[in-house]
Amino acid sequence: MLELETSSVSVFENLESNVRSYCRSFPIHFCHAKGSLLQGENKKEYIDFLMAAGSLNYGHNNDYIKEQVLKYISNDGIIQGLDMYTQPKEEFISYMNETLLKPRGLDYKFMFCGPTGTNAVEAALKLARNVTKRTGVFSFMGGYHGMSLGSLSVTSCDSHRNASGVDLNNVTFIPYEDGYLKNFDSLNYIEALLNDTHSGASRPAAIILETVQAEGGVFAASKEWLVRLRQICDKYEIILICDDIQVGCGRTGTFFSFERANIQPDIVILSKSVSGYGFPMSMLLFKPELDIWKPAEHNGTFRGFQLAFIGGKAALEYYHNSNLEETMVSKSAKIERVLRDEIAPLNSLIEIRGIGMIWGIDFGKFNDVSIPGKITRRCFENGLIIESAGRKDTVIKLLPALVIDDETLDRALKILKEAIAWQLEQITTN
Ligand SMILES: Cc1ncc(COP(=O)(O)O)c(C=O)c1O
Repeated sequence: MLELETSSVSVFENLESNVRSYCRSFPIHFCHAKGSLLQGENKKEYIDFLMAAGSLNYGHNNDYIKEQVLKYISNDGIIQGLDMYTQPKEEFISYMNETLLKPRGLDYKFMFCGPTGTNAVEAALKLARNVTKRTGVFSFMGGYHGMSLGSLSVTSCDSHRNASGVDLNNVTFIPYEDGYLKNFDSLNYIEALLNDTHSGASRPAAIILETVQAEGGVFAASKEWLVRLRQICDKYEIILICDDIQVGCGRTGTFFSFERANIQPDIVILSKSVSGYGFPMSMLLFKPELDIWKPAEHNGTFRGFQLAFIGGKAALEYYHNSNLEETMVSKSAKIERVLRDEIAPLNSLIEIRGIGMIWGIDFGKFNDVSIPGKITRRCFENGLIIESAGRKDTVIKLLPALVIDDETLDRALKILKEAIAWQLEQITTN
């Protein structure tokens, strides 16, 4: 049998495309993972504050979810079923409807897309355009919605957009609440675009947003702003699309991120943690009156990955049975306390933002954009995997598992604080 050299990263560096990204920050082999911990081939343990970019909210190899998946596999359950009727899909839909949607007064149809987040974003944009017979979409500066052409057109980051090779049209970008522009009333601006006969903008099919911009640098919209946005969409009959791919599934403290404002989007996009176990899955939930799809108008081979349905139902069971929303409260408070009381005072230029279990430490006011990278590298050396996001990657983004235990959380925050203090010390001594 061919012996593979497993301990070298040179295979990747020599043979895998330059397009690879996360591995550049963490250039070792990873082999085991449990809960909030990853193990490298060097047997070194790393606390994971990236959690596969938010696709493992319930931890690596969550015992309960694993048990359901293994049971299903050992019974030779169908694994790939296109969009045919299967028991795992039926159970997932029924369980989510009964335990998650109905108690929240949400009346939505389910649509499975295939199988990455960006594909569901494509489907949402298509649907909104076909329902309204309008072409334009409003999106927000700092928003991230994926890499395929439709999703890229509503994603703001220029380095991603420039790689598209074609014009990305029909989108108007609006400043996010308290984002790049402080104290700018974006919603007044939207109303001006819609009312002023000289605005140059047509009424859009949809407004798409993340209620917390994650890749954009952790900006959380206020409840009041979200309520007003919903009212504007109602008034002008614009479809409100909430991209909950990264900040749904409990990340902000409630299952859906928009719950805090008590609003109902017309279309909700879920992916990442919805399958519970890191399995690829993406889906839309939308108001029944929008369901004008004709059969097969948005198809995809891998919409039928049954393990994602098994994992997804098990994840919801776990979510309810482990009282995750309650147990998260003290963890979120601890993170906020350490960031505000111990890390922010290290330098007055540091800004802290966040909600629930997503937090950002913004170094954008320092005139050296290399600072966050040096801090995350130091964290990695000391056993913490954490990435930066936002404009010029100046925001260190904390994305721990929702189920992280207190001791591990304390340890991670200590590593982070030490790395920041170390880097700030270097700046002042140089
Ligand atoms: C808010 C949001 N939308 C869409 C996407 C795209 O999802 P995927 O990478 O699975 O295509 C992401 C990925 O990070 C995301 O965070």
